[in-house]
Amino acid sequence: MTRDIDLALIGGTGLYRFAGLEDVERQAVDTPFGAPSDELVFGRVGAHRLAFLARHGESHTIPPHRVNYRANLWALMHLGARRVVGVNAVGGIRADMRPRVLAVPDQIIDYTSDRLTSYCDVAGAEVRHIDFSEPYTQGLRMDLLAAARRTGVQVVDGGCYGATQGPRLETRAEIARLRRDGCDLVGMTGMPEAVLARELGLDYACLALVANWAAGCGDQAEISLPEIFANLEAATAAVPKIVTALLTG
Ligand code: HPA
Repeated sequence: MTRDIDLALIGGTGLYRFAGLEDVERQAVDTPFGAPSDELVFGRVGAHRLAFLARHGESHTIPPHRVNYRANLWALMHLGARRVVGVNAVGGIRADMRPRVLAVPDQIIDYTSDRLTSYCDVAGAEVRHIDFSEPYTQGLRMDLLAAARRTGVQVVDGGCYGATQGPRLETRAEIARLRRDGCDLVGMTGMPEAVLARELGLDYACLALVANWAAGCGDQAEISLPEIFANLEAATAAVPKIVTALLTG
């Protein structure tokens, strides 16, 4: 059954449900690629229809390298989503990407390995070499930034997202290398989500929430988990406001 969906939101670490959703319906979906991370949640924000999916499962039990990205995107598309915003926790590398900052990146470098990164990976499927020069949909990025402006939430426009394998955090040397490569942010879930969305022809943008300074950035000797969660909680508070403005704008 296809549904009317104005926007799909994929919640990352710290975002397991969308508060304020009305007329909520849940649906377990199976796909040719296996099961998505959890049931899909559908509901209304005013007159607008939102689909929500918790990338790591609603109990945060699926690590970044085990997320079934193909099933997640396919399920959303199959049920009628055309625009998808991925919310991703990240570490900050560039000086202005300090903890609690929100950013809408415009580039990606993929350092992940052993993930299923294409729908062509199926016997008999046609091989397609899609254009990925601009990994995010510019129109949706601009709409997201404009929505943030309307709510008065500061969001950094642009930046390069370095996608690492995880689930461990990086060494200082790895982050120094990412910085030399031109990465401004580092996270574990930006890929292959973005490329799979492109293969399916979906509009896709990332709303990155800086949870901590990446290893060797800032002045702390090591990264503390309680600090990550406190920063994420603070940054996540702005997400429903921005998404509501995006839907209603
Ligand atoms: N590195 C990778 N992924 C992350 C980080 C980090 O420092 N913080 C939150 N997600």
